[in-house]
Amino acid sequence: MRTIAVLTSGGDAPGMNAAIRAVVRTALDKGVRVMGVQRGYSGLINGEIFEMNRTSVSDIIQRGGTILRTARCAEFLTEEGRKKAANVLKVFGVDGLVVIGGNGSFMGAQKLSKLGVSTVGLPGTIDNDLTYTDYTIGFDTTLNTVLDAINKLRDTSSSHERVSIVEVMGRDCGDIALYTGIAGGAEGVIIPEKGYDFDELCRTILEGKLKGKIHNLILLAEGVGGANELAKKVEEVTGIETRATILGHIQRGGSPSAFDRMLASRMGVKAVELLIEGKTSRVVGMRDGQIVDDDIDEALAMPRKFDEKLFEIANMLSK
Ligand code: F6P
Repeated sequence: MRTIAVLTSGGDAPGMNAAIRAVVRTALDKGVRVMGVQRGYSGLINGEIFEMNRTSVSDIIQRGGTILRTARCAEFLTEEGRKKAANVLKVFGVDGLVVIGGNGSFMGAQKLSKLGVSTVGLPGTIDNDLTYTDYTIGFDTTLNTVLDAINKLRDTSSSHERVSIVEVMGRDCGDIALYTGIAGGAEGVIIPEKGYDFDELCRTILEGKLKGKIHNLILLAEGVGGANELAKKVEEVTGIETRATILGHIQRGGSPSAFDRMLASRMGVKAVELLIEGKTSRVVGMRDGQIVDDDIDEALAMPRKFDEKLFEIANMLSK
């Protein structure tokens, strides 16, 4: 392994920069040349690739976003696009590629590896929706961002004795809503994995009021529906003033937490070690606190496991 490249792809996530830094500095430490690819697979197809050194990644460990920029690339979904990308890597003498991204980015890496490119994936997404790893880079920071918002919403909701519906990201995965629901002491968590019963939700809100609760914070994962619509219906049925807050892309920014910086640093080192060992089609993860790696096909095929216990905890503690 003489030259590796690194790119970030899909939605950005806090900690991606810390991962890039770890990849670049580990490679240089081991005498391997490193290239950075800008704008994910789109930049790869267009040959937006440049050599990186130790100072290219100075002063970025604390920064959210990604210095390499990122994109979602339709052309890469085609065989022709992927062939172009593989050719660019060949032209620049790149032997191995580190892809930092989520599910879709990993599928890209999987297909690229079938064209003979050595690939290793690092899970960079706020969604925490990759089954093979306990945590993805960015998830923890997002939880803290959402918690900060919930704390503020609690103040105003209590003052006005309102219901507050807070819509968070996560596509098909309810982890952001579930974890912040527990950590933020929310009265309800609505996630795609479990669905919800509208009448039961209204009953819980009304019972809470009878018990003396002065606020009702409901965490809603975006995959289940819109907060505005739900707030309107809840207010109609319960008669309690209800407000919707959609946290949106605020959840994707910000300085990464200590946990995400550690995770990204450890995973970045592992990715380069794997490529140097001659491994390909691997993804790096964390299980039971240990950094592990798995075959990309197996990792992507793992059926999602839902943590029922956490959901029980959310419901039990919210009463
Ligand atoms: O996958 C990360 C994520 O932030 C999801 O939670 C969200 O649904 C999506 O990306 C939003 O994508 P975009 O930034 O393209 O609007």
